[in-house]
Amino acid sequence: MNSVSSNENSHTMDSHPAITFDGVTKHFGSGETTVHALEDIDLSVADGEFVSLVGPSGCGKSTLLNIGAGLHEPTSGAVRLHGRDFDIADSTGDIGFIFQRPVLFDWRTVRKNILLPVRIMKKNGDLDGDMQEYQDRVDELLSLVGLEGFGGSYPKELSGGMQQRVSICQSLIYDPEILLMDEPFGSLDALTKDQMNEELLNIWMQTNKTILFVTHDLREAVFLSDKIVVLSPRPGRIQDVINVDLPRPRDEETKQLSEYNDLVTSVYSYFR
Ligand SMILES: Nc1ncnc2c1ncn2[C@@H]1O[C@H](COP(=O)(O)OP(=O)(O)OP(=O)(O)O)[C@@H](O)[C@H]1O
Ligand SMILES: [Mg+2]
Repeated sequence: MNSVSSNENSHTMDSHPAITFDGVTKHFGSGETTVHALEDIDLSVADGEFVSLVGPSGCGKSTLLNIGAGLHEPTSGAVRLHGRDFDIADSTGDIGFIFQRPVLFDWRTVRKNILLPVRIMKKNGDLDGDMQEYQDRVDELLSLVGLEGFGGSYPKELSGGMQQRVSICQSLIYDPEILLMDEPFGSLDALTKDQMNEELLNIWMQTNKTILFVTHDLREAVFLSDKIVVLSPRPGRIQDVINVDLPRPRDEETKQLSEYNDLVTSVYSYFR
């Protein structure tokens, strides 16, 4: 097992879910202009589980993910990691966040972009002492996502799908236990998205990550997930949770199964 797949620091032996949203409500602003984004969300994602979040635009999916990453405070309710109250100060390395569009700096090479979170977190610490370890890890990650040899390239020399793979590496550099992904493949063409979906499942199976994934693409949600959480229009509440019991590993053939197509139809029925 290489260090990408090791999770020595994780808390996999306890019985708590990896991440729990406990009665999370979020209001933005105050008075008559208050936006009620989320109302009383109770949601748990077990260790190693792949959960997708779907719902109409503006129902609070990104807000929920941001709260999970500690980027927003809930108005009420709490987030727990393995049953403990979320504390941004000592939880940042436990969570990786992937945005809809890759957040890469044009003037930094792929390698230096992937190392950016390490630079930021260690700005007061001993960077050079650990650097070789992180350099080796960049190489492992690049090979995990099929980008061997691209460490010295610049983002503008890569396709959209390749750039999104670089952001996946960036979020994995700390070997976070939990990945929060906000429509990461939303801007990719259908074929690249299919390829990225299979790669993501490979990474997930190799590394035992816990993933909470936001998408508008209901077929993608069925293909990837163990569970699909359907949110109502704003204020987002949990409308239903659909279990996806399709066999794994999943590939293009999965999409030919009648069970797959039945599930897609039943998820679509929430949006009619
Ligand atoms: N920082 C903010 N300040 C004020 N209102 C906000 C803020 N962030 C989100 N909102 C509001 O909260 C609601 C939920 O937004 P959010 O971005 O979570 O929706 P979403 O489900 O991710 O939508 P989409 O599918 O379009 O990405 C929206 O009405 C939005 O305007
Ligand atoms: Mg969003």
